[in-house]
Parts: sequence; structure tokens; C-alpha cells
Amino acid sequence: MGLKDKLTQLRDEGMAEIRNSKDLQKINEVRVKMLGKKGPITSVLRGMKELSAEERPVVGKFANKVRDELTTAIEDRRAELEQAELDAQLAEEKLDVTLPGTPVAQGQSHVIQQIIDQVVDLFVSMGYEVAVGDEVEQEVYNFEKLNLPKDHPARDMQDTFYVTPTVLMRTQTSPMQARMLEKHDFSQGPLKMISPGKVYRRDTDDATHSHQFNQIEGMVVGKHITMADLKGTLEVVAQSLFGDKLQVRLRPSYFPFTEPSVEADITCFNCMGKGCAICKHTGWIEVLGAGMVHPNVLKMSGVDPEEYGGFAFGLGPDRFAMLKYGVDDIRNFYQNDVRFLNQFDEKG
Ligand code: PHE
Repeated sequence: MGLKDKLTQLRDEGMAEIRNSKDLQKINEVRVKMLGKKGPITSVLRGMKELSAEERPVVGKFANKVRDELTTAIEDRRAELEQAELDAQLAEEKLDVTLPGTPVAQGQSHVIQQIIDQVVDLFVSMGYEVAVGDEVEQEVYNFEKLNLPKDHPARDMQDTFYVTPTVLMRTQTSPMQARMLEKHDFSQGPLKMISPGKVYRRDTDDATHSHQFNQIEGMVVGKHITMADLKGTLEVVAQSLFGDKLQVRLRPSYFPFTEPSVEADITCFNCMGKGCAICKHTGWIEVLGAGMVHPNVLKMSGVDPEEYGGFAFGLGPDRFAMLKYGVDDIRNFYQNDVRFLNQFDEKG
């Protein structure tokens, strides 16, 4: 067989092998085998020195042509295989972004925190400052500075957890009244503060009592503040929480740090005043304690009661939550049964 025929045969075999190469590794092997230094074409070219001077350029040219053809065929096949590999990979890794995701369980505010946030937001919108006090409090702030000297009988109203003889778990948020009065610079305008937080009493837990619960204290002290301001403010709170048809009624009461003192009732939101089980057929529900800040409290905090005065109130968000949602046992709020708590999902 002449060299030309040999080259033709090599080309045909090579082309077949290229066509049959099914992956990139294989096509690479074919390239090395056909076109490499130890490959058949190289060895054919080496045999050229035996040819005559006329034949040599003809065969040489042909050999180059064969090599070029094979090179092109290999490159084309490689490109084809690369594309196929990419297509297969894309098909396999396909991601359907329209498929529904796996839901992630999200937490939410506790129902009582929701009420606290609502009340605090309301007061912030009216320009009150938020003051958060400590749950461990000095006895003087919890009692003395609120006009409750030692041995005052009213101390019995609030059974106390003592930490040391002079430090206690605060029984009310009212200590913040004294603390804020002491701090406030009245030359800058009236003091308007709201103070939410936890309080503690030595009560035996039952359906309506808990040794730990929440209070929100509010106080406004300035010039010419009247009881009508108190009533109007309480109406805004009640209506924003329970609906705008509700009315507020003040009844005389007693707190050592306010004079006069009142207890505030709101129209029963359940029967709208007609009388039902929730309001014990009175048409009213008691929601908070309040009054005009006692001159002694002002004096003890360095504020002149001749010049300044105002009101204070303390409301219980736990009780608000019970009323608002018809919950008859306060312990439900603290036992952390998520089936109970999830009923109050703000996100609906
Ligand atoms: N601190 C009182 C209580 O715990 C409530 C109250 C606050 C009353 C402010 C009057 C003024 O019962």
C-alpha cells in the first residue's frame, strides 16, 4: 500500500473513531493517538524520505491535509460533547423557583406583650416618654417615696417578696413615678411618662392571681393638669383597645400616693352596658387604678406641689388581655401552651 493510501485509511479510521467518541475523555485519547508524536501520521511522514523527489511534496501536502481534517473533526466533536455535557448538567440541576417552599415556623409576640405594645405605642404617639425601671427595687422607691411609710397599713395591700430588708421585688410600677419626678427638669415642660414592666406579689397563684404579672404606669405632671385630663386620657386608652363606643367611669377609691384616688371602669365591651356574665351584670368592668399625684409624693421627689401637679394611673395588661379575649384563667398566659398562645397570632 502506498503512503497516500495509508494516509487515506488512517483518515477514515480516525474519522470513525472521532464520530464514536462519546465523551471528552475519549476524544482527548483519540487526539493523542492520531496526532501525537508517536501517532501513525507522524510515522507515515517519517517514511517520506524513501519517496522520490516528485512524490514527496504531493504526499507531504496530502499528509498535512489529513492532519488538518482530523484536527478540525476532533475540535468540532469536542465542542459538540462539551455542549452536550453542559445541557445534561443544566437539565439535571434544574431549579423550579415557582415550587412552593417549605414553611418556616415563625415566632410572634406573646398576647400580653401585644397589649403592652399597643398601649405604649398609643402613649408614645401622644408624646409620652417610655421609662423602664428595674424589677428589683429599693424599698424606699416602692413604698416610702410613694407616701407609704413603714407600718402603714396599706402596705398589707401588696404582700411583698423581700430580697434583703431594704431591697425587694417591686410590687407595682409606681416606683417609676418617684424616680422620674426626681430626674425630670420641669423648666423644659411637663413630665409625661409611660412605664411598662413586671411586678411581683406574694399571692397564691389561682385563676385571677399570679405572683408575677404586668403593669403599665402612666403619669403626667406639670402646670394646670386636672382630673378631666386623667379621664380624657383613660378614655383614649379604653377606646383604642376596646372600641370607640366605650365610656369611662371613675369611682372613688384609695391609694396612698394619689389624692383623690379613683378606680376606673369601662363600659362592658361584651354587652355594651346591658349586663352580662363578664361584667357580673353591672354593665361596667374595672380596669385600672388612678388618681391625682399626692402632694407628699411630689414633695419627697423635690417637686413643689404648689406649682406642679398631675395624674397617675396603673393598669394591668394581663387583665386587659383576659377581658379582651374572654380568657377566664390568668395561668393560661404563663403556661406557654403554644396551642393557646397561637390563637393570638397578630399576623392572623
Ligand atoms: N400602683 C397601683 C396598684 O398597683 C395602681 C395605681 C397606679 C394607682 C397609679 C394609682 C396611681 O394597684
